[in-house]
Amino acid sequence: MKNFLNISDTSIQDLTGILEQAKMMKNARIGLPKGTRDEGQPLSQHIVALVFEKPSTRTRTSFDVGVRQLGGQPMLLSGTEMQLGQGETISDTARVLSRYVDLIMLRTFESQTLYELAKYSTVPVINGLTNESHPCQIMADIMTFEEKRGSIKGKKVVWFGDGNNVFNSFLQAAEKFNFSLIFSGPKELDPSENLTENTKNLGINFRIDRDPMSAIKDADLVATDTWVSMHDNPEIKQERHNLLKPFQVNEELMSRASKDALFMHCLPAHRNEEATSRVMDGKNSVIFDEAENRLHVQKAIMRWCLSK
Ligand code: CP
Repeated sequence: MKNFLNISDTSIQDLTGILEQAKMMKNARIGLPKGTRDEGQPLSQHIVALVFEKPSTRTRTSFDVGVRQLGGQPMLLSGTEMQLGQGETISDTARVLSRYVDLIMLRTFESQTLYELAKYSTVPVINGLTNESHPCQIMADIMTFEEKRGSIKGKKVVWFGDGNNVFNSFLQAAEKFNFSLIFSGPKELDPSENLTENTKNLGINFRIDRDPMSAIKDADLVATDTWVSMHDNPEIKQERHNLLKPFQVNEELMSRASKDALFMHCLPAHRNEEATSRVMDGKNSVIFDEAENRLHVQKAIMRWCLSK
């Protein structure tokens, strides 16, 4: 059974196959109304459970629309409204849902929950974000980069902010797709040592640079994210803002990147905090292409999960 839990769990052959499929499906839909079903309706007769234990706009909408375009039936479920939120175990939930649906997408808190669901589910499981990773987002980001600039192999990606779930998936992707990755953020909000201490052994071209001006030099892709994630304690908001303020992506900082550098943000954003509106709406920004590509790449991921 093919689960899509993390980029590190998926082979580069499968990852590139998913991206190719996404590109083909996107091109085949040019000019069509959004409700038109894809040729062949590959998810015909299939029901997909979309389980959310956290808020979402992009993931929720893009998976729902994606299932419909593939000819399947989406079933949106809120974790708090399920018995899961009342103490039913993940393992029981997995075994029950598997009797009703053909595929499960889960957005949750701990990655342990995701892996437990996948362990007991008899249908494929997709990671729609955990506190530790966001692989669908990074697949959309790589698709977006490659549409605009060609292969990401050997390119320089610079991350500004904290070592959050989106960064973690960038780090996993750096190994698979062979691009270099720089983390530029305060020491207090460094990525998990569990991930970074192994980068040399894995052959990942990764380093930390606390000076934003030097980190961004010659960057091909500049990425950032909100300073306070959904699972962060809101009481530490001011402290995080103070730490992260020097790493704001603004026009002055972007001017030090390569002329053709792309700016990415997975959204939702707090405009003029982690990035200025002038950067977000500037000529290098591809933030809405990223959002669109969530739809195309997730459709390819669902097809891959259900393929033999
Ligand atoms: N980028 C992203 O996952 O957006 P949502 O939280 O709106 O799903």
